[in-house]
Amino acid sequence: MSLPTPAPSSAALLTGASGGIGAAIARELAARGHGIVLVARREERLMALAAELTDRHDVRAETVPCDLADADSRSRLGERIAALGLEVEILVNNAGFATGGPFHQSDPDRELEQVRVDVEAVVALTSAFAPAMVARRRGAILNVSSTAAFQPMPYSAGYGAAKAYVLSFSEALHQELHGHGITVTALCPGPVKTDFWQIADWKVAGGRSFEEAIPGTTIAPEAAARAGVRGLESGKRVVVPGLPMRWAMDASRYIPHAVKLPALEWFMRRR
Ligand SMILES: NC(=O)c1ccc[n+]([C@@H]2O[C@H](COP(=O)([O-])OP(=O)(O)OC[C@H]3O[C@@H](n4cnc5c(N)ncnc54)[C@H](OP(=O)(O)O)[C@@H]3O)[C@@H](O)[C@H]2O)c1
Repeated sequence: MSLPTPAPSSAALLTGASGGIGAAIARELAARGHGIVLVARREERLMALAAELTDRHDVRAETVPCDLADADSRSRLGERIAALGLEVEILVNNAGFATGGPFHQSDPDRELEQVRVDVEAVVALTSAFAPAMVARRRGAILNVSSTAAFQPMPYSAGYGAAKAYVLSFSEALHQELHGHGITVTALCPGPVKTDFWQIADWKVAGGRSFEEAIPGTTIAPEAAARAGVRGLESGKRVVVPGLPMRWAMDASRYIPHAVKLPALEWFMRRR
């Protein structure tokens, strides 16, 4: 199943477009001729990207700043996009962040904010835009999960659980919506070089940051975005970019949690 054909009245709605993987996905979609609606909180960054996309690819690029943790602001997205005269034919739920460290010491508000942005917003936007896709029998949904989804994550318990939700939700919808002409893909990258790591501040064994502790696996946001959009185009259910990570995740399926969890707890513990 391929992506919907670009049209002047349709657009891809992309959350977390102000940097990292989201901005790279915007460039991939614009290069294929899709108009884009860019969503995140940092409006200046969205405006700069919109200008770049229009300039380079001659597509319509709109900015709709929104705090996705805020249910009211989020619920107005549909009408704000309709007011632009656009229909969402591609939905990319990419916005997200991770908490880290021992859960009993973490900020409860930040943990709940993570659930709101990483899980609740994905469900809310899918509920808002999937029915019209089904009615049109045309649409595509790319949800950015993570390799963190494939196993519980001690010292990032909320993030691992949030991304597991997104993976399970996406795989189920892939199956449900296939017969309605809609393709759904979960993009599950391992470490990607973005601001994510400064925000998450995952300090693991030896005080190193997580991605430094597993050298050779970090990829560029452009590579993650390309793999995700190509996977969506070709109707893949799950995409894990990069051979080393794909092999690691395949192998990890055969290791029981009783073995994996203590190893991960040791690896992820700050010391
Ligand atoms: N980097 C990695 O290693 C990695 C690996 C696997 C999966 N992922 C996932 O990939 C996705 C993109 O992350 P990234 O690596 O590109 O990190 P990033 O550069 O920090 O980008 C995160 C994006 O999410 C947006 N965002 C965060 N909170 C938001 C909120 N309350 N409302 C609206 N937008 C919000 C940010 O925009 P504003 O701050 O402007 O609002 C930003 O555009 C996330 O879902 C992340 O979990 C990342």
